[in-house]
Amino acid sequence: MSAIAAPFALMAELTHRCPLQCPYCSNPLELLKAGAERDTAFWMAVIDEAAAMGVLQIHFSGGEPTLRGDLAALIAHATAKGLYANLITSAVLLDEARLRMLEAAGLAHVQISFQGAAAAKADRIGNFRGGHEKKISVARLVTALGMSLTVNAVVHRQNLAELPAMIDLAVALEADRLEVAHVQYHGWGLRNRAALMPTREQFAAADAIVAERRAALGARLAIDYVVPDYYAQAPKTCMGGWGQKTLNIAPDGRVLPCHAAETIPGLVFERAGETALAEIWYRGAAFNAFRGTAWMQEPCSSCALKAVDFGGCRCQALALAGDASATDPVCHLSPLHEEILEMAEGESRAGVEEFVYRRV
Ligand code: SF4
Ligand code: FES
Repeated sequence: MSAIAAPFALMAELTHRCPLQCPYCSNPLELLKAGAERDTAFWMAVIDEAAAMGVLQIHFSGGEPTLRGDLAALIAHATAKGLYANLITSAVLLDEARLRMLEAAGLAHVQISFQGAAAAKADRIGNFRGGHEKKISVARLVTALGMSLTVNAVVHRQNLAELPAMIDLAVALEADRLEVAHVQYHGWGLRNRAALMPTREQFAAADAIVAERRAALGARLAIDYVVPDYYAQAPKTCMGGWGQKTLNIAPDGRVLPCHAAETIPGLVFERAGETALAEIWYRGAAFNAFRGTAWMQEPCSSCALKAVDFGGCRCQALALAGDASATDPVCHLSPLHEEILEMAEGESRAGVEEFVYRRV
């Protein structure tokens, strides 16, 4: 086990509660209620253990992490332990006083999700009236207070026409980084796939827009681009490789290799506070289930890229191939690749518009 490096980042999912109801939420379909959440002392101890293991970044996430009254205390503790603190938020519950408090606690970076470029559509997608305008005002406060801002634009069939305007919005907000992320089809995204799947033409147009704007904007705005999996030829290196870079802690304290890992049958997730975080990371059965390449089947096991993309996403392999140790079907070498592509194109043209909104 000595070859395994310490995790680079910890995703602290403080809560599944959220005022928004995005139909592509990465949280599980069975959301945890407030009563299942762990207390401040639990998260403080997690931060201590993470820092001792060599974790460098902590992402406070959810659900909506600003619903937690102890957020500033947790940020202060993390930064005192030398961790870089990032807040992943919908921003709709923040105001200047709270942001000042978080900044004073040591918050370095804020990532705000946008559902579109214009209020009517964005508010329909998040099912939260007034959300879009609130996000804009909070984003301005973030940069005014000297924190780094990432605009996270989740794109899909129903908002891809607004992609150029979303890029303009990120520029206007003076964001350091824009993440244009096509929906990942896990959790609620999988549930709403037919309403979200882009057409092939939209995919091609989005690629061209991102390339063109990257060239035009240069260093003014860094644009990260997460491609729509189902139309890709090569799979993404999900989570930087299973059990290689990141650990997720769910609101109830279970430690997961990724946010969707609980969809994989047979995996048992240990809890922080009951088992040492380092023990879970280095020797835990769930973290070792798909770590490295020894677990792979063909075509991955004899592929030159197996230590590059690690066979793609395990949760997607389960969702599409019914087997978490199969080649991710978005890979062109998967026997299921053409079938998945056809299914995606069919869904993108089926005319489903209504969302099933996430609810606790
Ligand atoms: Fe990656 Fe497996 Fe496809 Fe090779 S066959 S490119 S390792 S997913
Ligand atoms: Fe679980 Fe990709 S989301 S491995």
